[in-house]
Amino acid sequence: MSKAPRSPFLSISLAVGLGASLAVAAAGAALAADDPLVQRQALMDATAAAAALSGGMLKGEIPYDRTAAKSAITTLWAVSRNYGHLFPPGSDTGKTEASPNIWKDRAGFDRHLAKFTADVDKAKDVSGKDGPTDLDSFKTVMNPVLANCKSCHEDYRLTKK
Ligand code: HEC
Repeated sequence: MSKAPRSPFLSISLAVGLGASLAVAAAGAALAADDPLVQRQALMDATAAAAALSGGMLKGEIPYDRTAAKSAITTLWAVSRNYGHLFPPGSDTGKTEASPNIWKDRAGFDRHLAKFTADVDKAKDVSGKDGPTDLDSFKTVMNPVLANCKSCHEDYRLTKK
């Protein structure tokens, strides 16, 4: 049996996919340990990997690849659906960069989360089965998604990047 040659972009997307799976595995382990801090930080690490891949393609540092784009979008989609419940009361102390504002102004945090989710949903719509057709359509949906990182971190993360 011969193995089909694999493009470097596919490898990147597989690596990101693997990162996401590991994050989900880490989240699973943390669930057993009942530690929302570990879970939410693992999901943010997967988010950062998806954002780095997207940013690289948007800047032209990584050639555009539809499968890689789709991989990034689906990772962000999964995060957007699973992030909000990882900030239960009492999880504001310990090894966390979460700002006390999350618990002081939960409605504001939920608004940020809803905006992020809505922007990711638009990206998922454009993504379809095979990923956004070209770099321009990826750019149109991904730039608004990436703007959410800074705006949420400014208000709700102690490290404001
Ligand atoms: C709705 C709010 C929100 C959005 C949107 C968001 N983040 Fe975060 N992020 C947080 C919070 C809160 C923390 C701190 C979590 C903690 O330490 O418990 C965090 C932490 C992180 C971390 C550190 C994780 C760790 O291992 O400690 C990274 C990296 C990160 N975010 C990247 C991103 C990127 C990239 C995006 C955009 C694609 C993004 N975030 C979008 C709220 C958000």
